[in-house]
Amino acid sequence: MRVLSGIQPTGHVHLGNYLGAVRGWVEDQHHHDSFFTVVDLHAITIDQNPAELTKAVLELYATLLGSGLDPEVSTIFVQSQLDEHPALAWLLECTATYGELHRMTQFKDKGKGSESVRAGLFTYPVLMAADILLYQADRVPVGEDQKQHLELTRDLAMRFNHRFGRTFVVPEPAIPKVAARVMDLQAPERKMSKSQATPLGILYVTDKPEEIKKKISRAVTDTEARAVYDPEKRPGISNLLEIFSAVSGADPAELAERYNSYGTLKSDLTAALVAELEPVRLRTEEYLADRGELVRIMRKGAEKARIVAGETLTKAKEAMGFIVA
Ligand code: TYM
Repeated sequence: MRVLSGIQPTGHVHLGNYLGAVRGWVEDQHHHDSFFTVVDLHAITIDQNPAELTKAVLELYATLLGSGLDPEVSTIFVQSQLDEHPALAWLLECTATYGELHRMTQFKDKGKGSESVRAGLFTYPVLMAADILLYQADRVPVGEDQKQHLELTRDLAMRFNHRFGRTFVVPEPAIPKVAARVMDLQAPERKMSKSQATPLGILYVTDKPEEIKKKISRAVTDTEARAVYDPEKRPGISNLLEIFSAVSGADPAELAERYNSYGTLKSDLTAALVAELEPVRLRTEEYLADRGELVRIMRKGAEKARIVAGETLTKAKEAMGFIVA
């Protein structure tokens, strides 16, 4: 079984990214042939300052290692170091339709119908399909917000296989049971997101213990006396219960019964988060302290990834009738 997933270097890794995706990857790498990528080409679909992009890629790569991804066990690479990704994306773009890309809800949300929205934001899901299909991944562990992109990836793979002969594995999404959609701590009707963050609503994996304490203690709940797990009617407290469930392994409804005060729940949750995240923060800092070594690990990851990606790209080009040099 082969697993692949990716994350954008836009802003620090937040609790949604961590619980919805990265933490599961750390587990996956020990059971499956695993590929994880920092998708920096996706990041330039919105304006990026070059120096900040470099910094963000280094920081994200270090955070992935700090979270426990092991370059000796899995292949951890930076997307832009492999030209195979945009090359396959072009082939796939010529099989995808305007209509199906137009239906992508993330494009609708981010593009907001503006004329000046980048063409790259529109074709973004096809580059994501290329990321996945190049590695013949069976499973793609992602948070819930990526489900529609995975559907498109499956459609493109099936269409290509049908038209040009069996070339790609058709991947399945793997969405975690809890914390697949972590909500903003200040606006719990909205998902925790790098692009729409309220300063206290987003908790970063690299936040220090006192910041975690502040953000959790100020998290919006409600005026009811007791905690109840009901994401529809009680989104704030349910979000905290779900986060707590993800870090403790206990069921969110059981946790609700255990606490009759929001104060105690929040302080126990803070302690659980600090225990989970403090080692990640410290290891990330260590990796960041040696930039030369970090870049060496990245390049090794790219070399390993290229073996698989190159083979698939050749196969896809030949299937379409190109004469491969
Ligand atoms: P990105 O960078 O926005 O997010 C990385 C991962 O974090 C998950 N996630 C969340 N999970 C739970 N709650 C949240 N609030 C939350 N916010 C984000 C995302 O679902 C994702 O799994 N298009 C992708 C990147 C990508 C990719 C790929 C993913 C490019 N190529 C190939 C998988 C395979 C994205 O923007 O993720």
